[in-house]
Amino acid sequence: MSPNEPDAAARAILKANDRGGYTVPNGRVYPFQWNWDSAFVALGFDRFDRERAWTEIETLLRAQWDDGFLPHIVFWKDDPGYFPGPSVWGTGKQPVTSGITQPPVAATSVRKLWESAKATGEGERYRARLEALFPKLLAWHRWFATCRDFEQRGLVVAMHPWETGRDNSPEWDVPGEPIDVSKVGDYVRRDTSHLDSKMRPTKLEYDRYLALVQFGRSTGWDHARIAAENPFRVADVGMSMILLRANRDLAALANELGKCDEAGEVRGWIDRAERGIGWLWDEDVNAWCSRDTLTGRSSGFVTSASFLSFYAGLSGPRRDAAMRAHFDRIAGMVEFVMPSLDPADPGFQMIRYWRGPVWAVVNYMIGTGLAEMGDPDRANRVREDTLELMRRNGFYEAYSPIDGTGSGGDDFSWTAAIWLAWADGD
Ligand code: GLC
Repeated sequence: MSPNEPDAAARAILKANDRGGYTVPNGRVYPFQWNWDSAFVALGFDRFDRERAWTEIETLLRAQWDDGFLPHIVFWKDDPGYFPGPSVWGTGKQPVTSGITQPPVAATSVRKLWESAKATGEGERYRARLEALFPKLLAWHRWFATCRDFEQRGLVVAMHPWETGRDNSPEWDVPGEPIDVSKVGDYVRRDTSHLDSKMRPTKLEYDRYLALVQFGRSTGWDHARIAAENPFRVADVGMSMILLRANRDLAALANELGKCDEAGEVRGWIDRAERGIGWLWDEDVNAWCSRDTLTGRSSGFVTSASFLSFYAGLSGPRRDAAMRAHFDRIAGMVEFVMPSLDPADPGFQMIRYWRGPVWAVVNYMIGTGLAEMGDPDRANRVREDTLELMRRNGFYEAYSPIDGTGSGGDDFSWTAAIWLAWADGD
């Protein structure tokens, strides 16, 4: 591809996947609006259509529930190509949505959109839109602080593997064991009719996903009851780091808008996270890991999410040095960083979804964090590897860290968006 070709191809993907105000991750496999996908997609649109970038996030927030909850899928239009669809979730909301959330990247993206508008002298044109978005983002983060951090420990407790956005990470295997799958019943998956099942979660994993959906539904999607009774309650290192980062960005937006009380409230969440997040440090593996809140047990897995501590703005010499050592060790084992699972782990599989493949969006967060924390060499390695994967193979859902083969859906929106957001100056 010539240097301009990927840029044009990436734009074409976002345009083709645009369904009018929102973008589907991939027309066949994921035909609805996904929460954190849209947050990244907005960054891609911002490179060539600022107006459309803001709309992506505004549309997502139109699906927010009254208690501040922001769903992981919005089913704006029905589509038989996906399971489990609206009737399985049974949330009874308008628009029809799922009943779990996803990593809160949106506030970070909105800050980026705002800064990019200001940098080109368009800040005043977008101020009213920022003012309208801010209370909604604040309400969502407040929902996190109560319903997903109900013990006020500064963590995000995921109630479903899908909530983490890293669906079949091995971190959820042991915490998933107590989930009773005996009453799940028969169902027909759609993902494995679009894609090779070797790239997808297993039947047991899917049974657990559905059992958790059925449990949530049985509570009438009562988030307080789910917090108290859900059979799966894991403090996810990815979401915890992402929320800490997003709160820093939300606080910056509050200051920008002169909202002192709100800035103070957000600061309180940041302080709480800075005090509590150390619980996710695993001394045995010397890394940041997810931890089961029901048993207190660390997953012990080094995943790509472990490297988000830099993005979260955490710094401490001993832990940073340990994470850098993990980075260098893993970088020496693969052609393309950062595999979603440590390749030294016996469960590593180079094409199975979140058990090995490289995901552009996670790399973008890792690279951004490393650059911000003064580590340009590792930041460049992550960025260069990510861009090279796209140059060689196009815009896949994920890629093999060993040989770069694309896996999952092709023409994938958030991958194309990361190209646009990151390839500047390429
Ligand atoms: C998969 C991914 C999730 C993503 C969704 C849509 O479920 O694991 O992170 O949001 O697809 O792309």
